[in-house]
Amino acid sequence: MAKRKSGGLLNRHRSITSAKKLSAPKGIKPQQARQLIRRFHILQKNKHSILKKISKDYKKCDHELTESNYKEVLSSTKEWRKFYIANADPESQTLPSSSSATDIIKIDSGITIPQLFSQLGKIDAEIEKRGGLEAYQSASIHGQDSNRGGDSSKKLIEWLNQSPYNAVIHSQSKEEKKLSALEIGCLNPANFISTSGIFANVVKIDLNSQSQQILQQNFMERPLPANDSERFNLISCSLVLNFVPTPLERGEMLRRLTKFLLPPTPNSMSSLFFVLPLPCLENSRYIDTTIFESMMSDLGFKKVLSYQATKLIYYLFDWEGKIKSNIKYSKKQCYEGSKRNNFCIVLE
Ligand SMILES: C[S@@+](CC[C@H](N)C(=O)[O-])C[C@H]1O[C@@H](n2cnc3c(N)ncnc32)[C@H](O)[C@@H]1O
Repeated sequence: MAKRKSGGLLNRHRSITSAKKLSAPKGIKPQQARQLIRRFHILQKNKHSILKKISKDYKKCDHELTESNYKEVLSSTKEWRKFYIANADPESQTLPSSSSATDIIKIDSGITIPQLFSQLGKIDAEIEKRGGLEAYQSASIHGQDSNRGGDSSKKLIEWLNQSPYNAVIHSQSKEEKKLSALEIGCLNPANFISTSGIFANVVKIDLNSQSQQILQQNFMERPLPANDSERFNLISCSLVLNFVPTPLERGEMLRRLTKFLLPPTPNSMSSLFFVLPLPCLENSRYIDTTIFESMMSDLGFKKVLSYQATKLIYYLFDWEGKIKSNIKYSKKQCYEGSKRNNFCIVLE
């Protein structure tokens, strides 16, 4: 089991630099918050693909390089240090503009390993200067649909109070509540899931825990349940899949969700609450709601409810317990248009 506050995605190495962070986005305007969120997604994605390239070489020499340990390993390289320290200069408050910084996205095939170290150093410095994952999380609270008040689980609780879920909820006695939930990507331990009184137990996890009540853990590394006592009646996965850097890993995350849900039984609940930014499914070149819902259905998720807000799309699925064999959704362009985004999910 992961430890609280242990090696997370953005483990800081204060010994290398005590770079002054730009102030966390307090009172940030929604549009700025969205820009920051988009920038973090780009940085994460680039970091991920660079790490993947570098780890191939490390694997050859029998070293495992992961998101959690790479800084420790690379901090001894002069290239990473040079770029990290130069770009995270505590005196400098300038950040690359979103457009100029796209240079770090391009990783051509001829690039050398030391050059990759340097690129990674630059990315890490920018993440640090923008306030780290905390700033991203804070921006997420401010930057989404203003109606949701930073807590998309309000919609979930509204739905659970409707039929047929209300019958299941009310069949629990006051003394003996049994329903359990796993919240992946939890920013606030006092959100609607936890305070609704519906669940006896809500396990809250996040890559970067902001509270003692949130376990710092990557869902993709959470040990698989050994038995049903480690499975849940409900999983909330709200605005997390869009954070996962590659289409294939997004598919793996969807598949992994099925392993943590209790087998469906009459008069109980085995459900997934799932939220994405609307443009992921409404304005992508590679996917739309029909494709996404067909993927989910192949994975054994029956759509029960859905709702499109101005900027988000919400789903409640019931887990039916069976995954179709030979599922294959590859990266195929379905729509043209320069204004479309590249969000995609690959399932193999
Ligand atoms: C945009 S916030 C969403 C928070 C909240 N669920 C909501 O709907 O408002 C995304 C959160 O997911 C977390 N996250 C992303 N990938 C994760 C993973 N693989 N395991 C655990 N948490 C993850 C991030 O650290 C971040 O705090």
